[in-house]
Amino acid sequence: MAEDAGHGTGHVERPGGHVPVMLERVLELLAPAFTGPDPVVVDANLGLGGHAEALLAAHPRLHLVGIDRDPAAIAWSAERLARFGERVTIARAVSDELPDVLAAAGRPRVNGALFDLGVSSPQLDEPGRGFAYSYDAPLDMRMDPEQDLTAEYVVNTYAPRELTRILRDYGEERFAPRVAALIAKERAKEPITSTKRLADLVRSAIPAATRRTGGNPAKRTFQALRIEVNGELTALEQALPAALDALTLGGRVVVLAYHSLEDRLTKRVLTARTRDDSPRGLPVLPEAHQPRFRLVTRGAELPDDTEVTRNPRAASARLRAAERIREG
Ligand SMILES: C[S@@+](CC[C@H](N)C(=O)[O-])C[C@H]1O[C@@H](n2cnc3c(N)ncnc32)[C@H](O)[C@@H]1O
Repeated sequence: MAEDAGHGTGHVERPGGHVPVMLERVLELLAPAFTGPDPVVVDANLGLGGHAEALLAAHPRLHLVGIDRDPAAIAWSAERLARFGERVTIARAVSDELPDVLAAAGRPRVNGALFDLGVSSPQLDEPGRGFAYSYDAPLDMRMDPEQDLTAEYVVNTYAPRELTRILRDYGEERFAPRVAALIAKERAKEPITSTKRLADLVRSAIPAATRRTGGNPAKRTFQALRIEVNGELTALEQALPAALDALTLGGRVVVLAYHSLEDRLTKRVLTARTRDDSPRGLPVLPEAHQPRFRLVTRGAELPDDTEVTRNPRAASARLRAAERIREG
């Protein structure tokens, strides 16, 4: 499933107007990890600080370390969380820098970790950032505006074979070779610099019969480019194991993924850590082979219909959680 980057309201939401996804469930899953004297949580996708605010309000002794790579998100969440004073440490960083951020905050071990992956509502809603195919904007898609790599660079310079791989692997686009070939042909005439031109191009590369089903055909291409530009899966691949390593005994991680690639990666990492890998046939399982974690959720949990009606962007959410049950 691809995340929907099409529907924007046109205005930039400010702290308070944004609805954190599966909030009650996130609070419920993390609460048992915060029963000790001075619990710490790391929020690896601070965004507008919605989940962070609710966690801090629910646990008066909780310290929160919040990470985001987007300076706008840092500014909004800093304002929103200001009332919690020294209970909050905010870092502008990529989530795979999580161990360094925790070390710098003087809190290398944490009781909870939250990943609310992907883009935030303001990133999608601000036309100029180029994430949404429904606005005509420069092809940008950077979460961190100071980063060099943009969607325009990817679209105009990557070899067709590389573009095909990205569209297929990150967008699950069946027609990846056709879309990549048309991009290569059109960019030779004139560089592709706008979201609208790209969206129109994708539409014409997809067979008419397929175009009639499955929503906007540009959805998968835009998702793929966004993942490539921001190295999203690479960051998660490192950040999630790092967060698991940082968890204390009884500590919990909750991951909210918004497309199947993120969810599959999350599942793979959590399954590897919760599996018993002891050699078969032993009468007693050696401690060293026993799993350090257990799954707290059965499969992926979905938002309920009421939430999806209220907040359509929650529709693609998939939640998984795990708990540390052994040190080591
Ligand atoms: C869905 S929003 C989080 C919303 C937040 N939970 C709230 O309640 O307001 C995801 C945020 O994660 C940030 N982000 C995505 N990938 C990141 C990464 N690898 N490192 C740091 N921040 C990242 C984005 O900039 C965005 O602000």
